[in-house]
Amino acid sequence: MSNSSTQHYAHLLKQVRHHDLLYYVQAQPEISDAAYDRLYRELSDFEKAHPQLIDENSPTRKVGGAPLDSFRTVPHTVRMQSLNNTYSENELTDFLTRVTKGLAGQEATFAIEPKIDGLAVTVRFLDGHLVQGLTRGDGDRGDDITENLKTIRNLPLFVRGLPKTIEFRGEVYLPEPAFAALNHARQKKGEALFANPRNAAAGTLKLLDSREVAQRPLAVVFYGLAQPETSSLTTQDALHQQILQWGLPGHTWFRLADGPGKVLQAIHTLDRDRTKFPFATDGAVIKVNRFDQQRVLLSTEKAPRWAIAYKYTPEQAETRLHAITFQVGRSGVITPVAELDPVLLSGSTVSRATLHNFEEIARKDIRVGDYVNIEKAGEVIPAVLSVNLQKRPTSSRPIAVPRHCPVCGGPLSKEEVFLRCTSRDCVGQLKRRLQHFASRGAMDIEGMGEAMVGQLVDADLVQHLDQLYAVTEEQLTHLDRMGEKSATNLLQGIAASKSRPLWRLIFGLGIPQVGAVSSESLARHFTTLEKLSSATVAELTQVNDVGPKVAEEIVSFFQERSTQRLLPALRKAGLNFTAQKEELAMRGGVLAGKKFVITGTLSQSREEFVRQIQTHGGSVVGSVSPKTDFVLAGEEAGSKLTKARSLQVRVITEKEFVKLVGTESPE
Ligand code: IVH
Repeated sequence: MSNSSTQHYAHLLKQVRHHDLLYYVQAQPEISDAAYDRLYRELSDFEKAHPQLIDENSPTRKVGGAPLDSFRTVPHTVRMQSLNNTYSENELTDFLTRVTKGLAGQEATFAIEPKIDGLAVTVRFLDGHLVQGLTRGDGDRGDDITENLKTIRNLPLFVRGLPKTIEFRGEVYLPEPAFAALNHARQKKGEALFANPRNAAAGTLKLLDSREVAQRPLAVVFYGLAQPETSSLTTQDALHQQILQWGLPGHTWFRLADGPGKVLQAIHTLDRDRTKFPFATDGAVIKVNRFDQQRVLLSTEKAPRWAIAYKYTPEQAETRLHAITFQVGRSGVITPVAELDPVLLSGSTVSRATLHNFEEIARKDIRVGDYVNIEKAGEVIPAVLSVNLQKRPTSSRPIAVPRHCPVCGGPLSKEEVFLRCTSRDCVGQLKRRLQHFASRGAMDIEGMGEAMVGQLVDADLVQHLDQLYAVTEEQLTHLDRMGEKSATNLLQGIAASKSRPLWRLIFGLGIPQVGAVSSESLARHFTTLEKLSSATVAELTQVNDVGPKVAEEIVSFFQERSTQRLLPALRKAGLNFTAQKEELAMRGGVLAGKKFVITGTLSQSREEFVRQIQTHGGSVVGSVSPKTDFVLAGEEAGSKLTKARSLQVRVITEKEFVKLVGTESPE
């Protein structure tokens, strides 16, 4: 390759990056869109002609890559905490007093910044290149969403002038206008609507196909560092400014304040200004400005003591409740739902609200025809707060509590405040169970959303879960709005689900209290559905994440007659009942593909640890490099440990290692 091509490529890259920064981050483009498009085209044409030169972090790479089967779970370098929240100015003042006390009377200045209602992410750059992005997950481990993050337009893949390694904490969001457009398009296609921008952003980041993610204009804002102590920056305001100087998306609105009066003033100003931001701001975050003072104040398990979120009181709206409908959940619990005249609330249109249960309806005396006050308190589903009695029509009557299942007419039982349909053949339950079974997190059957499930059940094509696998193309094409192509696609989706990993099937069965994580543990422990189905409570409680209560639920689920009928039918349909090697090696995704270095003296032989790591899908290498995921360090560890620390490779003790691989023996 001639030197001049390389130079030309470098020049193109630099130019496109420069204009990306002006356009996406600083919102101050210097050239017309057409001129930018030409330049961009030139870059991408050049890359097509010289594929061997392509920089993997070129701006053209923002189109997404091949879809993933699932996200890897990765340990966080530093725990990702949340914030303590308050809606009260008094509590905020208490926080400020506590801080001063914690600093032994030292004066503190506070940084006040917008609290974006989005999704927390942590993004690591190595030598200026974006190398990894994770969700918060449970705070200790998050999902590896690097490919999805790379499609975000205002997030550069390469940044000049960064420290060798740096990890930013921030928030991903979907700008308000993009949210409206997305929902509009979905409505036209008859797809389910996202409740609010946060929900839409969360849904988008969970897509396994980053090319789809690239179609949605997500954006990110950084507001923190995973390890502020390793940086030369000393305050939050210096960090905000430095983030912008690096050309990364940061907060342009922030204030410094000392003393309660000024802090309150700043959060009031923010309340006024926040309507102009492109992101939904649901509060202010108040942080101790100096990093050294933050360190003195430390953290509790969940949240730091040096910061607090002051949330603005959620908007409320009044609207007419024109009907009450009933939703039957997959376990039969009946939830009354308020059908409302559409009304705008905190940036989204609301036409339904949960009424929780019949006792709530009675307590609030909610009736059809009432004008009700609704609120969305950071939750996806809005709730009815109260009734405006002055506007109550004279003819209204209290709601009659149903005596039979509103969907199937079957018998009801009362459990605490809930009504539950106990019929085995309830169509409402069946729909929910199917929906769960087919959902992305379970058997992941493409094209089988709520509407499709409804049609299959209503047309009597599926009365039991296993009948899903007997549906024919002929039957499908008779359904509403079902062309040949969608029929073929759905059948392919159904067929593909037969070979899903065992944990997905276990999760999809909808055993009460058994979530995706416990399903993974169960699949690994029992390795076949048969073994799981005949396990006793004592055997089940051997499994990580399975307590006695859950164990009992599992046993009784497999004893149910309907389950005993279902399992052989599913097997006959050809579903995979066995955990495959990869699944067994996965161990919750922890060690799959992980590189370990072992150093120091451990309680057992080095070979024993090598064996354990390998059994769990990891590998052991000789020396520490930036590619090493873990250094397992025993007593008297020497230079390898020092090197790991300097490269910020995660160091774990033997005890932590045992926790990582679980308690079972690796046989
Ligand atoms: S600081 C250890 N700053 O709100 C400190 N968080 O309710 C962690 N959030 O988990 C967070 N804007 O996802 C911080 N300016 C901001 C924020 C912010 C939004 C989110 C973040 C956090 C959640 C807590």
